[in-house]
Amino acid sequence: MASQTASHVMVALCLLGLAARHAAEATQLVPAVFVFGDSTVDVGNNNYLNSTKPARANYPKYGVDFSGSTPTGRFSNGYNLADQLAQLLGFPKSPPAYLSLTAKTIVPQMYQGINFASGGSGLSDKTGLLGAGEVIPMSLQVQYFSQVVELMQTLSGSRRTASLLSESIFFISTGSNDIFEYFLSGGNGDDGEFLLGFTAAFRSYVRALYRLGARKFSIVSITPLGCTPSQRARRLSQGGTRGGCFGPINTLSLRSYPMLAASLRDLADELPGMAYSLSDSFTMVSFIIANPRTNAWSFTELESGCCGSGPFGALGCDETAPLCDNRDGHLFWDANHPTQAASAIAAQTLFAGNRTFVSPINVRELAQL
Ligand SMILES: *[C@@H]1O[C@H](CO)[C@@H](O)[C@H](O)[C@H]1NC(C)=O
Ligand SMILES: *[C@@H]1O[C@H](CO)[C@@H](O)[C@H](O)[C@H]1NC(C)=O
Repeated sequence: MASQTASHVMVALCLLGLAARHAAEATQLVPAVFVFGDSTVDVGNNNYLNSTKPARANYPKYGVDFSGSTPTGRFSNGYNLADQLAQLLGFPKSPPAYLSLTAKTIVPQMYQGINFASGGSGLSDKTGLLGAGEVIPMSLQVQYFSQVVELMQTLSGSRRTASLLSESIFFISTGSNDIFEYFLSGGNGDDGEFLLGFTAAFRSYVRALYRLGARKFSIVSITPLGCTPSQRARRLSQGGTRGGCFGPINTLSLRSYPMLAASLRDLADELPGMAYSLSDSFTMVSFIIANPRTNAWSFTELESGCCGSGPFGALGCDETAPLCDNRDGHLFWDANHPTQAASAIAAQTLFAGNRTFVSPINVRELAQL
């Protein structure tokens, strides 16, 4: 009974999303989308860096379901979360990677948005250096954005720039790599202290973007990171039984949400005109894992990555790795990243989801403010 009600709500959600998608074809809901964060939303910035292989996705079989089966640098079989949220806002896909733009192409593009995200990066400047080689940490992403704001002010004046930025969506999906690395380096620090630093860093970047003119923030919180193929494999290798999530990293993921939520509430109280939409991604993903088949979706594989060899397909996706047949039935594409199908549900939920999954408002409501 309860699950039937739930699936009806999800159908309604899905229809809402579809209706929005049709409406969006006619009009963009906001002038521009600016994207910050990690591999969940990178659309190719790392192609321009000296990053190591796991922090790049510009080789097969990445992009196998992208137009022309092109590996673009997206850590997905197709479109990622930034693409699909941008589509719901009326854009064809994510704005392009900042590093792909030239002095000439950046000028028309910046009025529609730019994607600064970099796979392997995190809130801390140190995050990514261990395994990813070169990445663009959040601090540098914000610095790049400040250069774009200066250029816009020079070309369009301060008032028009402020007006455009205040109506645009600032989409942030970061922090997972900070948590992964906290555990890689032992994870035996003080969890409370780590989380305080984590939320303080998050706050400082939101504040910095606000100072540069951002007002509408869509923020993705941490998913149950212990349930990714890489962490399931890790649990198995440490003597756990097959089928479980890695507990300690899930505990930290879960604890990060109320702290982030409180930080954003405080910031919105303090900063005039700031509005935000925060996903509860832990609850969102847990809901899918608990309800793999509804009228709105059908996942047949929740644990293993589609592209990759070894336990849970966690040993890396590349041209030689095995590929699953039913990509849309897999929650995970590779060791750490969702499939296009899973990101689609996340995007729909960010955009039109109810208060269980996104609060205090969803992105559609944020866009309409
Ligand atoms: C949101 O939707 C989910 C899934 O259908 C449901 O379980 C939950 O009760 C809903 N929450 C609210 C606040 O309506
Ligand atoms: C790229 O990184 C590798 C190892 O991290 C280093 O040996 C190499 O010199 C770097 N190449 C460039 C062009 O910076």
